[in-house]
Amino acid sequence: MESATFHHDLALLDWQVELGATEAILDAPVNRYDLPAATAAAKPAKAAAAKPGRPAPPPKVDPVAVAEQAAAAAQDLDALRAVMAAFEHCELKKGARNLVFSDGIPGAPVMIVGEAPGRDEDREGKPFVGRAGQLLDKMLGAIDRGRTREDSPVYITNVLPWRPPQNRDPKPDEIAMMKPFLLRHIALAQPKVLVLVGNWSCQTLLGKRGITRLRGEWTQAAGLPALPIFHPAYLLRSPGFKREAWADLLSLKAHLRNG
Ligand code: URA
Repeated sequence: MESATFHHDLALLDWQVELGATEAILDAPVNRYDLPAATAAAKPAKAAAAKPGRPAPPPKVDPVAVAEQAAAAAQDLDALRAVMAAFEHCELKKGARNLVFSDGIPGAPVMIVGEAPGRDEDREGKPFVGRAGQLLDKMLGAIDRGRTREDSPVYITNVLPWRPPQNRDPKPDEIAMMKPFLLRHIALAQPKVLVLVGNWSCQTLLGKRGITRLRGEWTQAAGLPALPIFHPAYLLRSPGFKREAWADLLSLKAHLRNG
């Protein structure tokens, strides 16, 4: 029987291949027995740096404070995209092919906030273009909305602009450092309502999870009316909940008509 380690290792290998690794060897052989010696040699230098009289190590940066400053400086969506692309404190950026900023029509009354790019979104640099995105488009189409519809548009983004490795859950520090960009994104896009897609969007903007309880109940997020709904990826796995999703879409339609 294949072990759990086998599947874990295989998934890691898939991930490397997706990142573009084509070889498992280096140009020259590495003697790994040398490495501890090299590390040991590096230690005294580190200790010396801490000695009085030597220059102090650079102060630790607070990624959240850096993000807040950068986001506040962005005066439009292009500038925001640029400062996010230049932000170097989120580890996810290193493994991602593209920054996934947004899709749809800026200024649309509805702004949809998803979780994070998956493989397809990472490749194309656009949110919700994979299977879940196709279902999202169908859901929006059912209430006569769409990301390319000039007459009844939506604007779409995610909590995280870079794909987490192997689609793992976002980490609290990643959410904390990217939240200032999301809040600025919402302020600059100026939607009338937010649609919070799935648990991570609710966690980030409402400070709570539990989409089964939260969905369908209008609330406030980032100073706007906000409607939590099931994530389309969840609906693909659990199609039995499409009835609730349909009720929530009708609620969104009614809100937009009346508001
Ligand atoms: N799931 C999300 O939450 N966002 C995407 O862009 C794609 C899948």
